[in-house]
Amino acid sequence: MKLIIENDAGTAATAAAQLIAEEIGAHDTPVLGLATGRTMEGIYARLAQAHEQGTLDFSCVTSFNLDEYVGLSAEDPRSYHYYMQDHLFRFVNIDLHRTHLPDGAATDLDAECAAYEAQIARSGGIDLQLLGIGDTGHIGFNEPPSSFDTRTRCVELDEATREQNAAMFGGDPNAVPHEALTMGVGTILDARRLLLVATGPAKAGIVAKALEGPITPEVSASAIRLHKNYVVILDEASAAELSPATLAHAQRNA
Ligand code: GLP
Repeated sequence: MKLIIENDAGTAATAAAQLIAEEIGAHDTPVLGLATGRTMEGIYARLAQAHEQGTLDFSCVTSFNLDEYVGLSAEDPRSYHYYMQDHLFRFVNIDLHRTHLPDGAATDLDAECAAYEAQIARSGGIDLQLLGIGDTGHIGFNEPPSSFDTRTRCVELDEATREQNAAMFGGDPNAVPHEALTMGVGTILDARRLLLVATGPAKAGIVAKALEGPITPEVSASAIRLHKNYVVILDEASAAELSPATLAHAQRNA
């Protein structure tokens, strides 16, 4: 593991955006796995800024997002399709035909998930998968327990996750869809490189569990430790509950 600890959420986002930009530059046809959530907003803002400054070209980038709510159309402002347009795609020169998210409004959800897996395979696989972490320890929407060989599928969301994501739904956890389509833990582990980013004090407990606790389907983020090429970028607040032994290996950019 490469563990990088930045001062605050802003510098963590800068470090993550830099790593993503380097990955884009390292391939003729980069394939990115993208994530949503508040943590990603600063990262996407910096990628958009780099594009505006002329230093980052998305024309050859293919992207696959981790997940989408079931029942929301791409035009729904609460959907992850909309989020991606709003936070990244509309600001950069990515070819929208090369952007992919699972379709939560599909009539046959199982067929949609199988098609999504096939599309990832046809693209040659994901070079870098960006990940956040949910309060339940999920990556994507892989709620506990999610076995490490799971593929893209329909899952039921935990109450804690609906609470965490309620802000987009007028603050009402019950208004958050009860199901989502998500890449599986196995799909995520197939990416050639993983980048997990977490910031803020509310993430400190689950970050410590994921990075130091048992590697278990009960905390799907713990699965990243089975990967041979993964980077974790934290800020000081989200790193606060890590042990001295883990912190001793961290690259600190204060
Ligand atoms: C949602 C997404 C996850 C993301 C999580 C964290 O649940 N499905 O992929 O990691 O939110 O969100 P935030 O960054 O807002 O804490």
